[in-house]
Amino acid sequence: MSKQKVTFRIEEGEIELLKEKFYTDNQSEAIRLAIMQSLVTEDSEKLKTLFPYIGKKPPRIGREVVNAFEQSGCEIFVDLFCGSLAMLCYLSWDTKVMVNDINGNLTNLYKVIRDSPSDFVSEVMKLPYSEVVFKRFKEDLKSIDNISELDRAVAYFYVSFGAYRGRIDNPLFHISTTANTNRAEDYHKSIQWILQLSKRLQSVEILNRDFRKVLKSYNAEDVFIYADCPYLGTEDYYENVFSMEDHKDLADMLKSHKGKFVLSSKAKKELRKLYRSNNHYILNFEATYRLPDKRHREQLIMNFKMIHVNKYEEDDIKPYR
Ligand SMILES: C[S@@+](CC[C@H](N)C(=O)[O-])C[C@H]1O[C@@H](n2cnc3c(N)ncnc32)[C@H](O)[C@@H]1O
Repeated sequence: MSKQKVTFRIEEGEIELLKEKFYTDNQSEAIRLAIMQSLVTEDSEKLKTLFPYIGKKPPRIGREVVNAFEQSGCEIFVDLFCGSLAMLCYLSWDTKVMVNDINGNLTNLYKVIRDSPSDFVSEVMKLPYSEVVFKRFKEDLKSIDNISELDRAVAYFYVSFGAYRGRIDNPLFHISTTANTNRAEDYHKSIQWILQLSKRLQSVEILNRDFRKVLKSYNAEDVFIYADCPYLGTEDYYENVFSMEDHKDLADMLKSHKGKFVLSSKAKKELRKLYRSNNHYILNFEATYRLPDKRHREQLIMNFKMIHVNKYEEDDIKPYR
């Protein structure tokens, strides 16, 4: 992006307030961030995820999970496998949220965006959208012990944004191949959302733990667990392979959770064995006539009977037997 020099008058006190608000001592930085924020706060509670991510939940699923949380009577929302933070984008801003993921690059990125937004934005704004930069950062991420948290966050953000189809295991650079796509423009537009996300994250606890540890610490009646673990059959799409043993442990721990839980999944025989119970309910998303092959149908499994927002077919919420 090209830069222009602008001169204008502003009260001293106002500058100080802006510097405080954006956690910076640099006045032109504070003014630039204020301008950027004014561009994103048209709808002040709108949040967007920062990049594509495998398994990111679409709005139709997010809406039902929010709805389940609101009906659950719980006060704390724990996003046990938070990935792209899609759920945080669907929940209202006053919801008390805790997010967790075992991917330390992701949680480091969210912490840096929460705690040092202006440093982070200044760094990513300087970068052109280029395959050379993409490859350099991809290399940097192979030896994260040698780089600062800020540099690690910038590298991960850049590679995740540039990764074709969000595949981060061995990412390929996503280029614009049609007349109506402009990846470079999209890259700069995506930066606008960082400050908004930073604002929301101020009241969010971010953890980087294996799910078992989190479930142990949060086994309480007022805690709602949303478990969007890697689906059976997609275990190795992520850096951390999620095995059948992990699925068994998750099922055991969710079954003894004192509060409410909702698990996202696709219809699978093995999963039915783990969760079938008179105390569990299942919400099937797609009507059978639309997706006759059960394997593609998204489901929510839960330990209470919610009233769902959209009706898919007559018996779309029923006991999971
Ligand atoms: C299906 S994705 C979550 C997608 C997320 N709900 C979204 O909408 O973006 C599953 C996530 O589980 C994380 N994960 C894998 N194994 C884990 C473990 N043992 N403990 C915690 N997180 C784990 C992966 O890093 C990945 O981000």
